[in-house]
Amino acid sequence: MKNLRPIIHDVDETITDRLNDLLATALYFEDLYKRYHWMVTGPHFQPLHGLFDQHMEVLEQEIDDFGERVRILGGEPVWNPRVFAERKLLPDPDESLYDDLPIAHEAFQMEAKYADELRKAANEFEDDPATQDLVIEYLRAHEKQAWFLREFVRKVDLPEYGEEIMENGATH
Ligand SMILES: [Fe+2]
Repeated sequence: MKNLRPIIHDVDETITDRLNDLLATALYFEDLYKRYHWMVTGPHFQPLHGLFDQHMEVLEQEIDDFGERVRILGGEPVWNPRVFAERKLLPDPDESLYDDLPIAHEAFQMEAKYADELRKAANEFEDDPATQDLVIEYLRAHEKQAWFLREFVRKVDLPEYGEEIMENGATH
């Protein structure tokens, strides 16, 4: 839609574009968490099933906040799954993963990558402090979620998979 007007003030279109990249990623990430929540299996099913649910709740609020912010700035928020699959800033997941520890580790890597993207975007939003503040709020939330996942993978008794997890750490 071409003729939307900003509700409050004019901003550079690059800001709404970048915010839409983050929105697309958050939408994709929420769906990916559904996979983790539904498909995780193994002795740590219960805590992970619950943790993934909590992380999805944060994403749900984040999606609404980002979409509304795009609208306030005069842009059109992405909503079509075809579009957000193309624009997402996360790598494709490994769809062969079902076991609890590998899934927790992949979720950690996704959180770390997404936090990196939020940090980059926040640095680009200096000219629009309210957008920058919003992105930083969720940067804090995702850094915390990455921490929870990393500690989960560390604290459990790691059988054969453990050493590999420790060596690989986060991917950037
Ligand atoms: Fe559920």
